[in-house]
Amino acid sequence: MTTNHQFELYEQIEDISGLPPIRNVPDQQLRHHRSRKKLINEQKNTELYELEEKENQFNFSYGASKHEKAWINDSLFDFYRQSWIDDIIRLIKGGGKEASVYQCLANPSAPYEFIAAKVYRPRKFRQLRNDSLYREGRIHLDDEGHEIRDDRALHAIQKRTNFGKRLLHTSWIEHEFQTMSKLHKAGANIPEPFASGNNAILMAYVGWEDTAAPTLNSVRLDHEEARKLFDKAIENVEIMLSKNCVHGDLSAYNILYHDGEICLIDFPQAIDPLVNRNAHAIFRRDIIRLCEYFQSQGINCEPIKLADQLWKKHGFELGPNVDLRLLEPVFVDTD
Ligand SMILES: Nc1ncnc2c1ncn2[C@@H]1O[C@H](COP(=O)(O)OP(=O)(O)O)[C@@H](O)[C@H]1O
Ligand SMILES: [Mg+2]
Repeated sequence: MTTNHQFELYEQIEDISGLPPIRNVPDQQLRHHRSRKKLINEQKNTELYELEEKENQFNFSYGASKHEKAWINDSLFDFYRQSWIDDIIRLIKGGGKEASVYQCLANPSAPYEFIAAKVYRPRKFRQLRNDSLYREGRIHLDDEGHEIRDDRALHAIQKRTNFGKRLLHTSWIEHEFQTMSKLHKAGANIPEPFASGNNAILMAYVGWEDTAAPTLNSVRLDHEEARKLFDKAIENVEIMLSKNCVHGDLSAYNILYHDGEICLIDFPQAIDPLVNRNAHAIFRRDIIRLCEYFQSQGINCEPIKLADQLWKKHGFELGPNVDLRLLEPVFVDTD
C-alpha cells in the first residue's frame, strides 16, 4: 500500500542524501555518479511532492458546499490518505442532520471500482432521545472497536458531557461496523464493510456507475419476484437471529434492490436479544414493517405470528407485549 511505498521513498532519499563523501574515485566516474545521484534525487522529489500533496489535501469532483467540503475532509480524509478512495463522485442520499452516503471512486488497490462512504452528522445520534431502548446491555466501543473500560470515559458517557457524547457517537458507528462485519461473514445479503473511522464507514457500493440502487419501498414487484424476495428477506432475518442480532429499523426503506436481489443496510441500532429486554418487541416491529411492504406487493403473511415463530425457532424467550409506539425513535432538536 502507499504508506509502505511512502516510507520506502523517504528511506531511499535519506540513503541518497546521506551517502558518505566519495574518495579515491577517478573524476569521470565521480561526475557520472553525481549526475546519477542528481537525477535520482529529482525523480524522487517529484514523487515525494505528489505524495505530500496527497498528504495535505483531498480535492474531489463532487461539488460540495463549503461546509460540507470541510466536513467531508474531516470524515474521509484518512480513507483517502490510506488509499481506500481516490475521489468522491456524488451524494447518494443525505444532507441535513442525517447521515450522508457518498459514491466514491475506489483506489485501484481496493476490491471494487466504487465504494459507498456513510458519513454521520455529529447530531445524528445525539438527537435520539430514547436511545437507551437500543443501547440496553450494549458495551461502549472506542474508535478502534475495543470496549471502553476507562472509568473517566465511562463516567463522561453516563453524564453525557461533550466528551461523553463524542464517545457515544463513535460507539454507535463502531457498533454498526462490527454488526455489518459479523453479518457479512455469516453470509447475510449486506454490503461488505471495509473500514470505519471516527465519523464514517466505508462499504461496498450497491448500484451502477451513474446511479445507486433504489430502496425497495420505491420498487414494484410482480408476484413471483415478490415471493422470492420475501423468502430472501426472511432468510436474512434468520441469519441475523442466528448471530443474536435484531436489525432494529428493518423496513423496505433499509433494503436496497439491485439486479433482482436485495441488500440490507443501516445497522447502528441493531440489538442483541441476549442482553436487550426490548428485543422481542423491536423484532416484532421489524417483521411488521417488512411484511407491510410485501403485503402491498401481494404477499399473504401474518407478521406477528411469523415474528413469534421465528423468535421461538431461534430459541429466544417471548418478551412482554409492548405498545409499538413506545419503540419509535424519538428525535429532539438539540440546537
Ligand atoms: N452501500 C450502499 N450502496 C448504495 N447506496 C447506499 C448504500 N448504503 C446506503 N445507501 C443509500 O443511502 C441511504 C441512507 O443510508 P442508511 O444506511 O439507510 O442511513 P440513514 O441512517 O440515513 O437512513 C439509503 O437509503 C440508500 O439510498
Ligand atoms: Mg436508512
